[in-house]
Amino acid sequence: MQINPDLFTRFDPLGGTIEGAPQIERRLSDMRGAFADEDAFNAALAQGDPVLYTLAAVAPAHGDGALHYAIAQIAPGRIGAEYYMTKGHYHAWRPAAEVYIGLSGTGFMLLEEEESHESRLLPLTPNAIVYVPGHTAHRTINTGEIPLTYLGIYPAAAGHDYGSIATENFRKILVAVNGEPTLVDR
Ligand code: F6R
Ligand code: ZN
Repeated sequence: MQINPDLFTRFDPLGGTIEGAPQIERRLSDMRGAFADEDAFNAALAQGDPVLYTLAAVAPAHGDGALHYAIAQIAPGRIGAEYYMTKGHYHAWRPAAEVYIGLSGTGFMLLEEEESHESRLLPLTPNAIVYVPGHTAHRTINTGEIPLTYLGIYPAAAGHDYGSIATENFRKILVAVNGEPTLVDR
């Protein structure tokens, strides 16, 4: 029987891959402006341009009611005191919510509501589910020693607004203080 890859696939929770889904890479050089410590960023980039995270997305259809999903994997590491993380984004269609499910590794999701700018830090670990409401910027952060892998499921119509984060970054950053993840003002 022929299996339609839009209807069924398999994933590797340790590798961060989905069978049949292309994997894209986000390197350090793609992250200019994201980390608070610009000197540490430039020093790290002078040493090389590592892959900070990968993303494998499945986008079966775009019609009303359709869902897309993606598995991302963030490497362990830091720029200065700030942990490796995703760029972060709002959904271009602001009401679109998203469900995140932790698969392996240890980290957090940083949420920031667009109007109130209220920040929330929620753990993302295996067996954790994080609901990201609409109108909320979201960024994922690896605070562990191994890759952090998770699944995100979102409306096909959500889209990504990275520009708003590029011009006005998250107000909080997650940094290591005495080895402990600590949320502080940027
Ligand atoms: C999709 C979503 C995730 C992210 C992934 C990478 O709406 O939130 O699949 O795309 O965590 O992060 P970004 O997209 O911010 O580079
Ligand atoms: Zn999203």
